[in-house]
Amino acid sequence: MLLRQMLTDIVSDAFEKAGYRRDLGTVTVSDRPDLCQFQCNGAMSAAKIYKKSPLAIAAEVVSRLKDDTRFSMLEAVKPGFINLNLSDSLISKIMNDMTGDSRLKLPSMAPLTIVVDYGGPNLAKPLHVGHLRSAIIGDCLKRLARFLGHNVLGDVHLGDWGLQMGLVISEVKRLKPDLIYFDPDFTGEYPAEAPVTVEELNEIYPNASKRAKTDEAFAEEAARATFELQNGRRGYVAFWKHLRNSSVEDLKRNYQVLGVDFDYWYGESDAEPYIPKVINILKERNLLTESEGAMVVDVSLPGDREPMPPMLIVKSNGGDIYGTTDLGTLLQRMTDWHPDELWYVVDNRQALHLKQVFRCASLAGITGENTVCTHIGFGTMNGKDGKPYKTRDGGVMRLSDMIDIVTKNAYERTAQSEIVEDDIQKAGVARMVGVAAMKIGDMINHRTKDYIFDIDRFLASDGKTGPYLQYTAVRIQSVLSKASELGFHPGEILPPASDLERNLMLTLTNVSDGLLRAYYDKAPNVICETLFDIAGIFNKFYAENKILTCPDAPRRDSWLALCSLTGSMIKTLLSILGIEVPDRM
Ligand code: ARG
Repeated sequence: MLLRQMLTDIVSDAFEKAGYRRDLGTVTVSDRPDLCQFQCNGAMSAAKIYKKSPLAIAAEVVSRLKDDTRFSMLEAVKPGFINLNLSDSLISKIMNDMTGDSRLKLPSMAPLTIVVDYGGPNLAKPLHVGHLRSAIIGDCLKRLARFLGHNVLGDVHLGDWGLQMGLVISEVKRLKPDLIYFDPDFTGEYPAEAPVTVEELNEIYPNASKRAKTDEAFAEEAARATFELQNGRRGYVAFWKHLRNSSVEDLKRNYQVLGVDFDYWYGESDAEPYIPKVINILKERNLLTESEGAMVVDVSLPGDREPMPPMLIVKSNGGDIYGTTDLGTLLQRMTDWHPDELWYVVDNRQALHLKQVFRCASLAGITGENTVCTHIGFGTMNGKDGKPYKTRDGGVMRLSDMIDIVTKNAYERTAQSEIVEDDIQKAGVARMVGVAAMKIGDMINHRTKDYIFDIDRFLASDGKTGPYLQYTAVRIQSVLSKASELGFHPGEILPPASDLERNLMLTLTNVSDGLLRAYYDKAPNVICETLFDIAGIFNKFYAENKILTCPDAPRRDSWLALCSLTGSMIKTLLSILGIEVPDRM
């Protein structure tokens, strides 16, 4: 059980015994750690209910607990706070209980099926840094929910069906009109080799997109090609399959470097078979209305404070629409996976779009009454100028380039290291450090905020950075292995002998609380803050105590056990953030 819950139970019993409501006994971590470790503010609310002085109520509750040896301090203070300190022996008992509990004393939850929609890269368009945040945050939330025991399915939701496909087809047709994919009369087999490479594609899409802005005929042609593709024109489908395969391969390589993976590589195209079904459902429920030649659904609600435009379902020219595709995807997910919750880790700028999709799905009964659809939005990654991060020449930064920059910088730092000798090892460490720098640089901020990409700051070995956390974990590993070379081994954890040691232990008792908060708020930054709390206090403790030369053997072995517990907690939390710890660095 969580410590805070255990304390709440004890204090709730005392409230009840003193004749007050149980639910007044909620205990929280103290907001004045200089005064006490935990506090309960229930006497203040009790005062209003029972028309009595809060201090008197607090004193009554405290008197019920005064013989409880689990507390070293219990007091009622003005205006009616109850301050609590745990006894040192209880603290060390909790530490010993936590050792070897890989679930960090988390309460068990009823396992839910959760679909996480994250990544969201678009085929043919290069994977850009805008997709980085979705991948990093989504991957962390998936790992966190899994750690808490839920059944989590990650789906990359490729953008593989929109106008960009028609643009690429039209542009390639312009460049290589003789390719058999464009011959409507061709009935033979298409080649197994792709007609264009991923590198070529990276050029083709931006050119096509630019051309469509000035050349109306070209834009029309692209829209028609999109429509024909979506309606199964053989040559286009074959061409598209090549694009999809080679793009997916390239994407997998990039995500692998980041340590991000997906259970499903479905895309918008996989929603296609569900779209006629969605339209039927909407018709049956009388939700579709005509507006300016298009079909829309009114998704506004009486309480709306901001205008909620109707959701566009079918356009006059018949091509698939982003929102309708999302409804098809939802129908597929509900049919195949029966999720309790669906989490969409998507840029803040798509908030309105997702709100419309969720409302429409609920009106149509595509999602159930109890299905929870959540948009987990995030802000933009900016450059030092405060504008969305760009390359030096002003172009959109590609994710693969960004990974290169970060790992190269990390490599330059590890290259100077004498600890890691071998070049291959150095490259491995540089990748782990670079990825940690990017991930912490991102997730230390609350996800809804914009942040500034600053490679030097992210890679610094102190401050709130990934490398700082990795250094701390490596330091702990190295103390433990030196100890073992000397024949010393972690023993029983003894009651703390100093304030620092006590604080370290108390910090560890709060880790599971942090994880739950991160889960309920879908906020990876809470996990980061928990990690920096632990690492900060551990490093102070480590600087103050010479562990390996401590003459008192039981104390030394207790410290080693505390190091080992701290180290495994840091590693567990880092693994939830998708960060690895090198053996040495
Ligand atoms: N491909 C989209 C983009 O690049 C993101 C997809 C988000 N997920 C969704 N179900 N709409 O903007």
